[in-house]
Amino acid sequence: MPLAQPGGVRLVPDDRGADNASVMPDRIEVEPEPTPPALPGEVIVRASVDAVVDAVAADLLGQAVSCARAFGDFHLALSGGSTPEPLYRRLMYDPRLRSMPWSRTHLWIVDERRVPFDDERSNFKHIRELIVEHSDIPRSQVHPIHATDENAADAYERELQSELEWRERGHDRLDFVLLGVGADGHTASLFPHSPALHANGRLVALNSGPTVTPPDRVTMTWRLLNASRLVAVMVTGAGKRGILTRLVHERLSPEDAPILGVRPLAGSLRWYIDHEACPTA
Ligand code: 6PG
Repeated sequence: MPLAQPGGVRLVPDDRGADNASVMPDRIEVEPEPTPPALPGEVIVRASVDAVVDAVAADLLGQAVSCARAFGDFHLALSGGSTPEPLYRRLMYDPRLRSMPWSRTHLWIVDERRVPFDDERSNFKHIRELIVEHSDIPRSQVHPIHATDENAADAYERELQSELEWRERGHDRLDFVLLGVGADGHTASLFPHSPALHANGRLVALNSGPTVTPPDRVTMTWRLLNASRLVAVMVTGAGKRGILTRLVHERLSPEDAPILGVRPLAGSLRWYIDHEACPTA
């Protein structure tokens, strides 16, 4: 099988017979790069999931190091779902990422399902098992959402404000937020035409998604996401090509596809997409 390289370069084993193998070099093919889809913000397209993970991890490390230097700490918010799992694993084992300042990092959860922490569907359960238990992040800097509590959204909002306000009072800015996109265009637990899209003034809200299990959620709002310094949207796999095609070619509003309501006001929005998810121009 050809070895996939970043940037669409493939080393193809010579197929002119075993006798020639030692004298004939492999062919080098350069696959045409798909045109980056016309999405708001910067769009980074890579050949494979692994190469997408490389790109996100490098930007995450860069942002972490510069925020830890500038502010003394780094506020990172992570999503659940299956897309970011290879990134979370990589953050723990890749020696090139050893300089990640975990001891200065505050770890927040973008959204949570209203289930106990030991439930398989809990986002924090997976993030704890993949990251918290393997990094030297102090426990006091890990901020799960206590989603089964009645006042979960209010309590999380207060916690965010009290940790962030010393930097710039009234400006609740996370440093790096990692988002995914659902097949219906949702992001975080902001579902199409759902009440949390109108939670004006709130940083965190309760919400409900008719097509997801469990339907009841706690989620960061557009307001908080759009105040962030860097929002990274990771989209991989053929299953996501349909929604990316719709985002590019249909006239969807942020109500129809809430990912389109993510437009950081004084920060950057960066998409990381693999070839399989990339729509045709
Ligand atoms: C969640 C997420 C959600 C997710 C998308 C994509 O808790 O499920 O925060 O917004 O990012 O649904 O999910 P996949 O990565 O599993 O496709």
